[in-house]
Amino acid sequence: MTTLLPRDSATGAPAPAPTFAVISGGQVAEVLHGRERETIALVEETYRVHGLGDSVNPPSYFLKFPDRPSSRIIALPASVGGSVQVDGLKWISSFPENVAAGIPRASAVLILNDHATGYPFACLESSIISAVRTAASAAAGADHLSRGRARPRTVGFIGVGLIARYIHTYLRAGGWEFDEVGVHDLSLDSARGFCGYLETCDSPGNITIHESAESLVKACDLIVFATIAGKPHVHDPSWFAHNPVVLHVSLRDLAPEILLGATNVVDDVEHCLKADTSPHLVEQLTGNRDFLAGTLAEVMAGQVTIRHDRPVIFSPFGLGVLDLAVGKYVYDEVVRRGGLNVVEDFFHEMRRH
Ligand SMILES: NC(=O)c1ccc[n+]([C@@H]2O[C@H](COP(=O)([O-])OP(=O)(O)OC[C@H]3O[C@@H](n4cnc5c(N)ncnc54)[C@H](O)[C@@H]3O)[C@@H](O)[C@H]2O)c1
Repeated sequence: MTTLLPRDSATGAPAPAPTFAVISGGQVAEVLHGRERETIALVEETYRVHGLGDSVNPPSYFLKFPDRPSSRIIALPASVGGSVQVDGLKWISSFPENVAAGIPRASAVLILNDHATGYPFACLESSIISAVRTAASAAAGADHLSRGRARPRTVGFIGVGLIARYIHTYLRAGGWEFDEVGVHDLSLDSARGFCGYLETCDSPGNITIHESAESLVKACDLIVFATIAGKPHVHDPSWFAHNPVVLHVSLRDLAPEILLGATNVVDDVEHCLKADTSPHLVEQLTGNRDFLAGTLAEVMAGQVTIRHDRPVIFSPFGLGVLDLAVGKYVYDEVVRRGGLNVVEDFFHEMRRH
């Protein structure tokens, strides 16, 4: 990593230019493969740091296009303290039509900036980092929100693209065993593709494709929403009468009446109550935030106790600090392995006069 280098005091010559490296998706995948537990611990630690206020995580900026209303590119600037100490920006596109064209919906880069100089020192492929931090956050949520009850052994996935696959991988790596795995997607191709992935896993459990969200919700104790729904499509609180743990990763699937009958945990209150997420709709409906039990960091710190006589819903907005923490971990590991691809002469103009 770059450091603030003084001028050569004898000659007055400028210090050497800071370096800039590019880290490919292949390198990111190689570093993170098999490190799921470490990544979950890193994400939990980052939530703690954020909860203690040792971070800056301003609102995300949504770039939208009048001519392409289903698409967007989001900027997530952030700064994380603790032992990570890095600033930066995630720049992530969501183009849902990509899926029909055979490429993933989301693509992203992550820029890491040096704490001391502000110089960017790396650009990382970040769709993998984003999926990993989302999955690690979901696994951490599932763990902390199901403590105090029998760990669910029936899991259901509603919306089964890349994010659902990563969440399943991280749950399994986090020690979850499933007797039953329910799958529901509006696209039968996606459902079949996800089942094909499940069949490659060790002891996947019985796999069932559900034709309706209702049948899946009623059958499962741990439910993952990872759709691209723009507004609520699940309205009936009676589906949740068995008090499941719900990882509401796609944020806009559940109608306010479902949240109003549940214990609601978010990752960051200000972030989550924006952009017409389901928690935001509840706030608009009720005019208050009384329906929120607290944040995952507060649950982890024992400041919020989870009631198990009602559904528990985790709605994580997805914080830029998580991308930075995972990205810096990848960067350090690539450096340690001697694989850093530095772009020669990237910062070229180093003289003021
Ligand atoms: N909260 C976070 O931190 C976070 C981070 C990353 C991604 N996400 C969200 O996760 C979601 C999934 O991302 P992805 O990359 O896997 O997308 P994807 O396009 O690969 O898959 C989404 C799947 O959902 C299905 N679907 C859409 N509407 C549905 C509905 N009403 N019922 C059932 N299935 C439905 C689609 O057919 C598709 O197969 C997105 O909404 C994304 O914004 C959240």
